[in-house]
Amino acid sequence: MATVKEQLIENLAAEDKDSQCKITIVGVGAVGMACAISILLKNLADELVLVDVMSDKLKGETMDLQHGSLFFSTSKITSGKDYSVSANSKIVIVTAGARQQEGESRLSLVQRNVNIMKSIVPAIVHHSPDCKMLIVSNPGECFLFLFFF
Ligand SMILES: NC(=O)c1ccc[n+]([C@@H]2O[C@H](COP(=O)([O-])OP(=O)(O)OC[C@H]3O[C@@H](n4cnc5c(N)ncnc54)[C@H](O)[C@@H]3O)[C@@H](O)[C@H]2O)c1
Repeated sequence: MATVKEQLIENLAAEDKDSQCKITIVGVGAVGMACAISILLKNLADELVLVDVMSDKLKGETMDLQHGSLFFSTSKITSGKDYSVSANSKIVIVTAGARQQEGESRLSLVQRNVNIMKSIVPAIVHHSPDCKMLIVSNPGECFLFLFFF
């Protein structure tokens, strides 16, 4: 018969099984957090990962979700600046983007967002080659830029 210590170790090891539906959200702004809450309330993921370049914001938003996790079925909510945390995601939702500044042309905004996308997309694909990517960030034209330049 297993000792209490052995039973505890066995249970901890069993919890570490691979996720069946891991969803990553890149960008924890207004849109990213709305996506996160919707996913959690609808039980769409068994693991939710948040990625952003702003460490403090990322930590705060992650802790808020973790504190409320008693009310969700999603057992694992993690985050990080490094895309390795997103490894093997089924779906990656990109909400990271620059906001249009006062007087800024749409063309200039596109270029800033193209640069952001160039840093994000290869890292996502590297860690989750089979994922489906949903791009929410505006403007959508930046994808045309990505393909042609
Ligand atoms: N498609 C739609 O229907 C729709 C609707 C609303 C907003 N949007 C777009 O969604 C985007 C996000 O809007 P928001 O209101 O959440 O903006 P926001 O400014 O509140 O959040 C953007 C987040 O992206 C992060 N970010 C910036 N560069 C990054 C990078 N390189 N890597 C990782 N994270 C990065 C920022 O730190 C920030 O937390 C914008 O482009 C906006 O125009 C689209």
